[in-house]
Amino acid sequence: MDRVFSGIQPTGVPTLGNYLGAIRNWVPMQDDHDCIFCVVDLHAITVWQEPKLFAAQTREMAAALLACGLDPQKCILFVQSHVHAHARLAWIFNCVARLGWLNRMTQFKDKAGKNSEQVSSGLYVYPNLMAADIHAYHALKVPVGDDQKQHLELANDIAQKFNHDYGVEFFPTIQPLIQGVAARVMSLRDGTKKMSKSDPSDASRINLTDSADEIAQKIRRAKTDPEPLPSELAGLEARPEARNLVGILAAITDSTPQDVLRDHGGKGFGQYKEVLTEALVAHLGPIREEMARLLQDHAALDAALRIGADRAAAIADPIVTEAERIVGFLPR
Ligand code: TRP
Repeated sequence: MDRVFSGIQPTGVPTLGNYLGAIRNWVPMQDDHDCIFCVVDLHAITVWQEPKLFAAQTREMAAALLACGLDPQKCILFVQSHVHAHARLAWIFNCVARLGWLNRMTQFKDKAGKNSEQVSSGLYVYPNLMAADIHAYHALKVPVGDDQKQHLELANDIAQKFNHDYGVEFFPTIQPLIQGVAARVMSLRDGTKKMSKSDPSDASRINLTDSADEIAQKIRRAKTDPEPLPSELAGLEARPEARNLVGILAAITDSTPQDVLRDHGGKGFGQYKEVLTEALVAHLGPIREEMARLLQDHAALDAALRIGADRAAAIADPIVTEAERIVGFLPR
């Protein structure tokens, strides 16, 4: 079975966008891949995190992943900082990757903006750490969103340069599995912006912790246009909010936007939003309850993460130790 690695940052309550765009796609992979999933707290501190809140968010993300169906019997789930191999390999990769490569990373440019003298140096080398996450396990497949594609190309460049410089065939080529392009969930306030846990407006997103009432209220207030729903896909063009609400129902009911329009075309948004709310509440309710249950028992959750970290380290430690030997570090 091919090894799969993916990571998610604990920088806020997971949203419907994280769920439909990433987490939900990971669940079926557990059955036919050797899966390793990681809450990437080292990546999160590339921007300021208030320590108490950060620790709570890390647990919350782990609980959300379990509640969404990641099963420790079928995959390895752990917290990045618990496995030191990530930081060890990241340092080696800091010395393999070229400044010119990092200078081309569009995500850094977007995140740093005009402020690039003031952001942390960690934010700059973020892609090297991401490469280390993957290569520490010799993972072959990496499910990520579209926005991470460039980082995976860099991870392949790093592997190739390492292999070339040291004259080895040690790190394999990884294959991105670009996910969620169809089910890309957009902000409820602006259908041209991605739904994001960092948007200042909570009304822009559905959180996996939202109650049925909160979901109903957010959907009721979601931005729309005055036209009823079209019956054909072409009718969604230039209607980003309508397209988003149709896409969400399609994703959550495992159907397609065509199916949704066939069933609901011609309805006004008032009526359609009731259908959508009902489907969302039915789907997310059990996840929210399971998350709350898991978060009531920190000791049990932490123990599960410890086991995950031990299993992850058992794979990554020998690989990274071998990389260190290749580099010429003296064995201890
Ligand atoms: N950078 C990824 C994101 O923000 C998260 C991530 C960190 C990741 N390490 C990874 C994803 C390794 C895939 C593989 O979405």
